[in-house]
Amino acid sequence: MVENNLSPASIASNLETRFIGQRVIYYPRLASTMDVAKGEARQGATEGTVVVAGEQTVGRGRIRRSWLSPEGSISLSIILYPSVLYLPSLIMLTALAVVHSIEKVTGLESQIKWPNDVLINGRKVCGVLVESGVRGDKVDYSIIGIGMNANFRVSDFPEISSTATSLSDELGCDVPCLGVIQCLLLEIEKLYLALQAGGSVYEEWRDSLVTLGRRVRVVSGDASYEGIAESVARDGSLMLRRADGSLTKIVAGDVALRD
Ligand code: BTN
Repeated sequence: MVENNLSPASIASNLETRFIGQRVIYYPRLASTMDVAKGEARQGATEGTVVVAGEQTVGRGRIRRSWLSPEGSISLSIILYPSVLYLPSLIMLTALAVVHSIEKVTGLESQIKWPNDVLINGRKVCGVLVESGVRGDKVDYSIIGIGMNANFRVSDFPEISSTATSLSDELGCDVPCLGVIQCLLLEIEKLYLALQAGGSVYEEWRDSLVTLGRRVRVVSGDASYEGIAESVARDGSLMLRRADGSLTKIVAGDVALRD
């Protein structure tokens, strides 16, 4: 039977990180791990504190969408206090850490759809949300939120069944959520420490994107754009080649692949 006990003690046990996950706050059920993590950060929680939920009732995604987090999903938020220089890289490094962890624990290959949706066979298996408190060039906190469809059947949820998948659907059996979480925390810490030591995650993130070279429609705020996703800038923006030959820089948005 797979190990799915997500108590703070079980997550911390044998965790090979220096600081991420060395303090864990676990809720069987809560509204959103983002809000609890933000409250903790505002009270000065130690860097690397992780808030984990068994399920979320008001999980949220990027661009004000809701995020479904039933029992069997992985929902967690990590508190960091990065330099402002590293903010664009947090999204990239988290998406990469998800790809690495899925591969290490399950053997499944996944890809990133700009900016940070993780897909398996074209269907979304994990979403990443980064929310930061910034004043001028000072970051008060960054919260990295990760929602992964681990052990549930997406066919039980009509609202996502046509676009999403789960690790258990892909594998035909449950995955060890504890192992996935521990691997994720370690991968994120490794990439974060490498970044602070002067490394870059940009190239690997760019090369993991399924989006580049594809015809896409991007919805960004009230605007919608079509074109070829030509490249990504180092700040994470998408460069879209339009039919009239112009290049549009898109900072945030939702991409639909058209071919
Ligand atoms: C997205 O793809 O739009 C991002 C989804 C992020 C969901 C995670 S689940 C843990 C954390 N708590 C939330 O309410 N959202 C993030």
